[in-house]
Amino acid sequence: MRLKTPIQDFLVDHARVNPISFHMPGHKGSALYKRYGFNEFLEHYMDCDITEIIGADNLFQTEGILQEAQDNYAELYDSKKSYLLINGTSGGIIAAILASVPKGKKLIMARNCHKSVFNALTLTDIQPLYAYPGLIREYGISGAIPPEEIEALLKNNLDAEAVILPSPNYYGICSDIEAIAEIVHRYDKVLIVDQAHGAHLKMFSRFGVQGLPKSAEESGADIVINSIHKTLASYTQSAVLNINTDRVSPYVIEDKLQCIESTSPSYLLMASLDINAAILKAHGHELMREWADHLQYFYEEAKKIECLEFIGKVPGMDWTKINFSLGKLGISGDELETMLLKYHIFIELYTGDLVMCMTGIGNSRADIETLLNALREISEDHKNNLLTEKAGIKLENGPTQLLTYKKSRLYEIPKNKIRVPLLEAEGLICASSVIPYPPGIPLVCPGEKFEKETLHYLKALRENKEKVIGVNALGEVVVGAE
Ligand SMILES: Cc1ncc(COP(=O)(O)O)c(C=O)c1O
Repeated sequence: MRLKTPIQDFLVDHARVNPISFHMPGHKGSALYKRYGFNEFLEHYMDCDITEIIGADNLFQTEGILQEAQDNYAELYDSKKSYLLINGTSGGIIAAILASVPKGKKLIMARNCHKSVFNALTLTDIQPLYAYPGLIREYGISGAIPPEEIEALLKNNLDAEAVILPSPNYYGICSDIEAIAEIVHRYDKVLIVDQAHGAHLKMFSRFGVQGLPKSAEESGADIVINSIHKTLASYTQSAVLNINTDRVSPYVIEDKLQCIESTSPSYLLMASLDINAAILKAHGHELMREWADHLQYFYEEAKKIECLEFIGKVPGMDWTKINFSLGKLGISGDELETMLLKYHIFIELYTGDLVMCMTGIGNSRADIETLLNALREISEDHKNNLLTEKAGIKLENGPTQLLTYKKSRLYEIPKNKIRVPLLEAEGLICASSVIPYPPGIPLVCPGEKFEKETLHYLKALRENKEKVIGVNALGEVVVGAE
């Protein structure tokens, strides 16, 4: 009798349906590894799960095979030094912040940073100074961080130590890192870019495929952290941190990486990073070209689908993230997600009417064809529902309407904490971040006041069974006790 294994059963059942992945990770299954001859690694998967045996090098004192793989990354990204990470970009972000900002000092950060940035703050009482992203009104999503915001914060806080922001953000919107780097360096500070969603940007330009925004490495950022797993070909949780200038000491970064990473780094994760680098070095041009062609084809064909709206190849947009909507036909994002499941298409996320499909290095032309066919059929089946008045993508269906990040006063983070029901938290100070997942960006941070509108939004998210970290099963949040 087969043993009951809830996780394994789920994974195997999922693999059996031949899912079409438009979510992370970027490898999209074993086909890519097989295409480039890594069958033996896949077959010997279990036996390759080793520890630091003789000859296997050591992640925290790299001198052998791991150093070789790190050197390959330094070559691919033209960085001064690259580090393999086994705790994702999350780990790299925390290490980079701890290495750049002493205990209790100030960090200028985008308000829409990932929660790992907020986690770093709490470790050594770092004081945040928020830069707010613009709003792309037409689509209702967060936009770029204006360089002027960064400049104003630096001007008024000469004692800030570093600046961190995500680029691209979850939806693919990139900030002008070149302009921001120029400003940050004029004030002699360190610029850290969370490029979790843009590990591929440098690969497009490295291999001469035009059309994507410039990578942070090429734009002058000091430290850049890339989730190789999200868009390229390594396993989930593997990432790479690049040091690009002399402003940061590699020794301090190494010390902080040791503090926060597991002392039992997985050789499977590190081997997948190694394989990704090898595939890119040998076949980077071919793969980036194919990927760009698939996308070009998608956008051309998508234009012909009635009532399908999408964020196209606008400047500053990483259009490998396909954001589209059939809101004109009265179809909300969660409804569209369910409809796409019938075609075994799994999306990354939806926000209101907007669905985001995250493409990766492993997506094939067949994946794109299936997505286009599904959208054609759904559009055809619902064409009678055409809403008479609807201009542009709207985010008004359901609770996933995105709230913008409001500039709000920061209060002292409460030392004494209690839990209260959501709707009783109005006017109280948040003591533990509230984070809708995805995208994993805190909606309310410790030290911010809970507002009525936000609380109702959170209640609606929970009623819609969306994951919200920081709101427990009883619907309570943590606030400061008097
Ligand atoms: C903007 C952003 N930064 C950082 C991370 C963390 O990356 P990782 O999953 O590699 O730890 C994420 C994860 O989704 C993210 O969305």
